[in-house]
Amino acid sequence: MQVVPRLSVERMRYEDIATVQQIEREIFLSPWPKNAYASELSQNRQACYLVLRQGAVIVGYAGIWRVAQEAHVTTIGVRASDQRRGYGTALFAALIHRAYEMGARWITLEVRSSNLHAMRLYERFGFKEIGRRRGYYTDNGEDAVIMWSDSIHAPSFKRRFAQILSGIQAAGVGDSPPPEYPSS
Ligand SMILES: CC(C)(COP(=O)(O)OP(=O)(O)OC[C@H]1O[C@@H](n2cnc3c(N)ncnc32)[C@H](O)[C@@H]1OP(=O)(O)O)[C@@H](O)C(=O)NCCC(=O)NCCS
Repeated sequence: MQVVPRLSVERMRYEDIATVQQIEREIFLSPWPKNAYASELSQNRQACYLVLRQGAVIVGYAGIWRVAQEAHVTTIGVRASDQRRGYGTALFAALIHRAYEMGARWITLEVRSSNLHAMRLYERFGFKEIGRRRGYYTDNGEDAVIMWSDSIHAPSFKRRFAQILSGIQAAGVGDSPPPEYPSS
C-alpha cells in the first residue's frame, strides 16, 4: 500500500526560508532579495506567510499583506515538480482565509501578463483583471495584469469560495469559516 503524506498549510518559519528560496529560484525569473523573507517574518506585522507541506516537505508557499481594507497577495508558488495537483488552489484558498482573519474587504494582486495558468487560478476564485501596468517587470519588460476580487464578504464570492474549499484536502487551509460565512 502506498502511503500519501498528509498536506498541511502552516505559518512560514525562519527555518523554512532556505527551502522557500530554493523553490523560488526554480520557478521565478526574479527571486526576492536574499533577506526579504527574514525581514518580512520578523518586521512586517501586516503580513502573513504560509507554507504548504506534504508530510515534512515544503511543496509551496504564499504571502499576503494587509493594507487598510485591502489584502495584497505578495507571492505564491508551488515547486515545479508538484504543480497542477491542486496545491496552488489550496494555498490561494488559505490566503483568502487569512485575508478574512486580517479584516480585509478586498484582495488584489499583480501577475505577469504571460502567466495564464496563474490568472486562470485566480479567475476561478472570482478575481478579475481591472487594468495593466505597462512594462512593470524590469527583468523582461513584461506588463503586470492587476486583478481584484469583489468584496470577499459578498454572498457570491463566499459561495464560490465555499465550493472551492469543499474540494480541498489539506489541513490548515481554514479550519472554520469566518463568522459571517454562509452556512449553505
Ligand atoms: C501559479 C501556481 C502557483 C499554480 O499552482 P498549481 O499548484 O500548479 O495550481 P493548481 O494545481 O491548483 O491549478 C490551478 C489551475 O491552473 C492550471 N495550471 C497550473 N499549472 C499549469 C500548467 N503548468 N499548465 C497548464 N495548466 C496549469 C490547473 O490546471 C488549474 O486550472 P483548472 O482549475 O482550470 O484546471 C504555480 O503554477 C506556480 O508556482 N507557478 C510559478 C510561480 C508563479 O507564477 N506564481 C504566481 C505569480 S502571480
